[in-house]
Amino acid sequence: MTETDIELLKTKLFGSQHAVALTGAGISAESGVPTFRGQDGLWQHYRAVDLATPEAFGRDPRLVWEFYQWRRRLLGPVRPNPAHTTLAELERRLPNFTVITQNIDGLHQMAGSRRIIELHGNIWYLRCTGCGLILEDRRTDLPPLPKCDACGRLLRPHVVWFGEMLDPVVLDQAYAALHTCEMLLVIGTSGLVQPAASMGAVAKHRGALVVEINLEPTPQSDLYDFSWQGKAGELLPQLLQGE
Ligand code: APR
Repeated sequence: MTETDIELLKTKLFGSQHAVALTGAGISAESGVPTFRGQDGLWQHYRAVDLATPEAFGRDPRLVWEFYQWRRRLLGPVRPNPAHTTLAELERRLPNFTVITQNIDGLHQMAGSRRIIELHGNIWYLRCTGCGLILEDRRTDLPPLPKCDACGRLLRPHVVWFGEMLDPVVLDQAYAALHTCEMLLVIGTSGLVQPAASMGAVAKHRGALVVEINLEPTPQSDLYDFSWQGKAGELLPQLLQGE
């Protein structure tokens, strides 16, 4: 990315009526949140099939809860980094700026973003497996098998597990944003998990300028207009410089 390219992006971004950012685990890496498939990623140490599927929860809910409680404790002290705060600032300055995230860490909200579409749910919310009640609970010391106050059935993390469908309402919101955006920033995602992995192509197909921001190339890099390589927390703030 040359200086000229960055100036072009900024002109396009600050002239846009609707820009979108699609984020993955990489945007939270500089906050100390482990990614999934990076060198020290979660799935290098744990088997997703044992911990992040409805079958695993059916088989051993205590083990799955142990894993999510550990992740909640890990996330408790974590704070947004300049990549998150830049997106929150873009939302304040630009009309209709929207964040579509695969992350369940809640750091976009903590940074001040409000127009957020959470594709994979949020680790700070619980859902009842009986009555479907959804509640926010930020405690990091939940009981080993948390129960629903309303019906007494088992609560589960309000996140999307492998093999589960995304919420159709959430998916519709995401595609509505991708179909109308003039610019899409694809930030810190390996582009390996659907449907998020093909969302860049959807926006590109609709004529949006698509910019990837990642430490390294991904399977979609050639499809996009720009592949800006580096740390999101260092690159994104450059979009605000001089503006
Ligand atoms: N800045 C920019 N990009 C980064 C940074 C950083 N500081 N650190 C890591 N990355 C990039 C990596 O190069 C990688 O391409 O972020 C990406 C992280 O990829 P994954 O770990 O695969 O995470 P993600 O793409 O969000 O995973 C998608 O898979 O496990 C499921 O549901 C989970 O939402 C998750 C989904």
